Amino acid sequence: MNAPVLRYGADYNPDQWLDRPDILVQDIELMQKANVNVVSLGIFAWATLEPEEGRYNLDWMAEIIDKLYAAGVSVDLATPSGARPAWLARQYPEVLRVNADRKRILFGERHNHCYTSPVYREKVKQINQQLARRFGRHPGVIMWHLSNEYGGECHCPLCQQAFRDWLKARYGTIEAVNRAWNTKFWSHDYPDFDAIESPAPHGEHSVHGLKLDWKRFVSHQTIDFMKWERDCVREIVPDAKVCTNMMYFYDGIDYFDMAKALDLATWDAYPTWHKPTETIEQTALDTGFMHDLIYSVKGQPFWLMENCPGPTNWQPVSKVKKPGVNLFAGMQTVAHGGDGVLFFQWRQARGSSEKFHASMVSHDCREDNRIFMECAALGRTLREISAGVAGTPRARQAAIVYDWSNKWALEDAQGPRNKGLSYKHELLRHYAGLSRNGIDVQMVDQNGDLTGYALVVAPMLYLLREDFAQKLRDFVAQGGTLVMTYWSGVVNETDLCYLGDAPHMLTDVLGVRRTEIDALYDGESRRCTALDAALPQAANGTLLCEVAALEGARPLMVYDEDFFAGAPAVTVNAFGSGKAYYVATRFEEAFYTPFYAQVIKGVLTPCWPAPLPDDVLASRRGDLIFLQNARSTPVHIDGVTIAPYAAAIYRQTDGKPELLYNQPAFTWSPVK
Ligand code: GAL
Repeated sequence: MNAPVLRYGADYNPDQWLDRPDILVQDIELMQKANVNVVSLGIFAWATLEPEEGRYNLDWMAEIIDKLYAAGVSVDLATPSGARPAWLARQYPEVLRVNADRKRILFGERHNHCYTSPVYREKVKQINQQLARRFGRHPGVIMWHLSNEYGGECHCPLCQQAFRDWLKARYGTIEAVNRAWNTKFWSHDYPDFDAIESPAPHGEHSVHGLKLDWKRFVSHQTIDFMKWERDCVREIVPDAKVCTNMMYFYDGIDYFDMAKALDLATWDAYPTWHKPTETIEQTALDTGFMHDLIYSVKGQPFWLMENCPGPTNWQPVSKVKKPGVNLFAGMQTVAHGGDGVLFFQWRQARGSSEKFHASMVSHDCREDNRIFMECAALGRTLREISAGVAGTPRARQAAIVYDWSNKWALEDAQGPRNKGLSYKHELLRHYAGLSRNGIDVQMVDQNGDLTGYALVVAPMLYLLREDFAQKLRDFVAQGGTLVMTYWSGVVNETDLCYLGDAPHMLTDVLGVRRTEIDALYDGESRRCTALDAALPQAANGTLLCEVAALEGARPLMVYDEDFFAGAPAVTVNAFGSGKAYYVATRFEEAFYTPFYAQVIKGVLTPCWPAPLPDDVLASRRGDLIFLQNARSTPVHIDGVTIAPYAAAIYRQTDGKPELLYNQPAFTWSPVK
């Protein structure tokens, strides 16, 4: 087996440049200068590959794959299903998606085909197998990029029937469905499966069990389509390795499920760097959460399949990345377990909506372009550090529970705050609190295995499955530390409220019992004070304030105002050989770093042996420690100067970490 290497490259769309052979020649030259060693090829090339039904035109691609291979650039070959040719839509209208309002869309855009349509599946099979036959054994093809950013949903008659079949397989009888969804409410009992329709703005949208199952079905059906694509390729090339690109906090697909069908997890990151409301460190933490989630869905190194070397074309304000920030983002990927850093895209398009989206090569086609120079510097850095980093896994320390069914149920429920619960912000607060204490985080869902984690954090675990509640009980009983928040343990897996004490099955573990939950308007807060000297002496609760009765837990903070003054806001409880914290409200961001500094004492060892300056990120990969300077000025740590936005890599030792690599500064000025 070849030793793993860090992969570096971009989406490559030469089908847009076939009339410019000079450009194709320059592409290869510049790829070598930028240290590119992989490209995702032909993601939207279907119309060029099959200009008419059954007439294939693959020779141009063969030539390009050969030339890339000769230049040391491997190929992550795309199946082109993400955008269908016009002939396909015209000849087979059933492939066009139907929206929730039951209107079929016209031809246009992309990522909008029906995942159920047998015709679409057949056409996809034909083109995928043409590609597999022709290129599947090419030594340059190292990976298959299945489609692109699978997503969305279709409500056509074929999908309705598939939904009913899925429900039948899940519940067996219509009576079981009616019970699971509590359809006695408003006389919504379904007489048979044929009466069930997907949620619609002009139809059903109050039966939350139905809506939750529809979300599950859409996720299932999308993954089923992806497996179809994979299996079409594997029928020809049985050992083909496959991946697909996942998206930032994407709601529509359970990525834990999706990852089971893939060899490699990848995602597309488009942070809005330099927005006035956020520091680089804060934006990086937000991205770090996603890196760790994508690492966790397979528990192995991932690729960053797309990111942008400069401004995008689609953000409200598309800012340039300041000098060094592109390198910073690339190094952060590697620090969090990434084995690949790729951009969208290699060369900036000439027309259509993405023509101003930055690319490694800009419209000026120059190698002294600032973006190209920084991309080349990143390629060099990745090549330099590749040996010893690529393939290195991350150890388990703390886990945050991130579960798609919970997200779907939580965000859909009509409850204390229909204005929004900003679940993502709750997750990010815990994540940032842990990261700022130098603790590595992975995510688990309710099918997850908690073995090896010392700390499990369960923020807003509204939908709590009983088998997972049992796992949490066992985890704490056997010595683990649990942090659970307000609005947890409320409903079961079909969104029926649990009866009895809450959080369901965990009141003895937490030593508290929920009695009420109050919702606050935006801008409102409730003051809390600490009873424990180690916690922030005062902090404000926002969003939701849960009022709990103490049943054995020790209060660490209490509310200080409103009728629930004196009720616990933060508690800790001993259970078995472990302990469980309960946080009754959403605190301001500043609370979480000192809070987790307490929680981890005696439980987990921070990545760096001494406190780090603010705006320095620390994370671990195997025995490597990455320190990243998120400031625009140098930072000095224990005799080492880390340049602005640069990283230093150390090896963990019993004593002082040993410095292995100190990334040079990337400097650039428009003034010569
Ligand atoms: C991604 C997509 C790419 C490209 C990019 C632009 O979502 O996968 O094809 O459109 O956005 O930022």
